[in-house]
Amino acid sequence: MMILLLVLLCCTAVAGVSVIITTKHLGIPPMPSSRAAREQVLVFLGRYHQGKVIQELGSGWGGLTRKIAMKFPDQDVLGVEASFLPCLFSKLSAFLSGPGNLSYIRANFLKTSLSPGRSYVCYLSTALMETLQERLSEKLHPGFVIISMVFAFSGREPLDEVLVDEVFHDKIYVYRGME
Ligand SMILES: C[S@@+](CC[C@H](N)C(=O)[O-])C[C@H]1O[C@@H](n2cnc3c(N)ncnc32)[C@H](O)[C@@H]1O
Repeated sequence: MMILLLVLLCCTAVAGVSVIITTKHLGIPPMPSSRAAREQVLVFLGRYHQGKVIQELGSGWGGLTRKIAMKFPDQDVLGVEASFLPCLFSKLSAFLSGPGNLSYIRANFLKTSLSPGRSYVCYLSTALMETLQERLSEKLHPGFVIISMVFAFSGREPLDEVLVDEVFHDKIYVYRGME
């Protein structure tokens, strides 16, 4: 019993340290988005998404990708997450309880290719939005739809935006293409 407890404690400590190290490296914790933000993302996807693939950049523990996959069963929903533990958790829960159109990869989305015709969802930071904007501007793909929770691209007019939290002034932004 004592050994089992020790093993459990060690696993929890290693898991905690792994999340802290990745958070430090990426500059952002795997903090889940709010319920109101997620509901609005689903509304915007219903309104603007046109392709066959919806991808979340930094999918955290997988809560939002799961909601998207359940709401859009005819779409392939892919979560990309760099942090080991949240990604493992997401993969396990998709493996154990589906839905079948949901999958995850552990990767740095800044190093993966971003394809035209897909819709991207993210909840990142001001710094990561700047880097993402630079990458997308290089690619010149007008087919993109990007839905960003809370953080906007600087100097770029969104196609649509909605306030979801009056206290913190949090908005959800939609961008199309990057001309
Ligand atoms: C604030 S959390 C949002 C989680 C989830 N999108 C949600 O809405 O609940 C941001 C996530 O992005 C991940 N992340 C940050 N930079 C990344 C990168 N370059 N590649 C992959 N994941 C990244 C972090 O590990 C973190 O889990």
